[in-house]
Amino acid sequence: MIIVSDPIVVASPSDARAAFPLLAHDPGLHYLDNAATSQLCAAALDALVRHETTCRANVLRGTHRLAEAADAAYREARAAVARFLGGVSADEIVFTSGATASLNLLAHSLGATLAEGDEVLVSVAEHHSNLVPWFMLRERRGIVLRVLPVTAGGRIDLARLPQAMGPRLRLIALTHCSNVTGAVTALAPLVAAAKAAGALVALDGAQAVQHGPVDVRALGVDFYAFSGHKCFGPNGVGVLWGRREVLERMPPFLGGGGMVDRVELTGASWAAPPRRFEAGTPPIAQAVGLGAALDWMTELPWAAIRAREARLTRRLIDGLEPLPGVRILGPRDDAARAPIVSFDVEGVHPHDLVQVLDERDVAVRGGHHCARPLMAALGVEACTRASLALYNDEADVDALIEALAHALRLLR
Ligand code: ALA
Repeated sequence: MIIVSDPIVVASPSDARAAFPLLAHDPGLHYLDNAATSQLCAAALDALVRHETTCRANVLRGTHRLAEAADAAYREARAAVARFLGGVSADEIVFTSGATASLNLLAHSLGATLAEGDEVLVSVAEHHSNLVPWFMLRERRGIVLRVLPVTAGGRIDLARLPQAMGPRLRLIALTHCSNVTGAVTALAPLVAAAKAAGALVALDGAQAVQHGPVDVRALGVDFYAFSGHKCFGPNGVGVLWGRREVLERMPPFLGGGGMVDRVELTGASWAAPPRRFEAGTPPIAQAVGLGAALDWMTELPWAAIRAREARLTRRLIDGLEPLPGVRILGPRDDAARAPIVSFDVEGVHPHDLVQVLDERDVAVRGGHHCARPLMAALGVEACTRASLALYNDEADVDALIEALAHALRLLR
């Protein structure tokens, strides 16, 4: 079966809902767990099905007709990612299995070029996927890991940057947008400080990409990592973008087929990036689906979508604040934030809350959100998080607030 949907113009959240098969089939669902996984857009689903039913073959090794069709589709997926990231070179796009794999690749591969005592700077606001790989590198190579704190308002504390930068700083690796608080990192001072120190900058873009295309060159960073399943694409695929001249200096992480130039029993030499970093069969159909999702996204009216997301975030914060025992974690202002809002409810465990909300068709996430150091800094063990995407509307926000008021009457 090949599903071919008409192109969908997203002028409103209800148009957007129609572009997402799961939401179209479940009109009563208030899906507010987009920071965990966004829904799969029809463009990506169509591309997946079309690929698997018309040109499924391995890539970068076959010469028959089907293999060539698969090669072309995979190449085009890389080009689509390059366009989404501001028109970078497709050779700078490495496909991985997700943002976590991208960050582990970076920690292993760039990490292999670091010496004992070299410094990597992260922040308290990181997801575990941008902390644990650096802990592991510290074990392997004796690097020094420095950590920027967060302010009381939950933003990375840039006032502490001068003290946090040591004399052997090699890399600043930070979240572009917190998966807990929605705070968007102020990059200009960080990039300027990194450049002055001769250090590289890597961003975990997992939470940022859902809210529009990202021009990585304009940001001035050197690496950008993200996952397909958080930007309306398939899961099992992700991206590490790196500046070509930096990627060229990095050794491979995983060894195997496809990443070599020459292999003899005495040793091997490496293919040029990006293939150097794609050992084995890559997630082909997933990459094709991701390319379709990003091409679909690139055409959307982002200024209007971002304005709507900001209005809904305001409505959500204004609805949460008066509720008894509810404390918003992180910024409450509108500037430099994504539509992700986490909150603590005094005396109520987030898992109980999530269950009661679920009974009212409101899907949110409760837990530590793989950000335990940030939880500790915010003074909680766990919290409840609502995260909005382009298909959410006032009804979703209002359903959450009403369900929460009901849950508070029940649980407190
Ligand atoms: N990183 C994802 C989240 O924040 C899974 O929920």
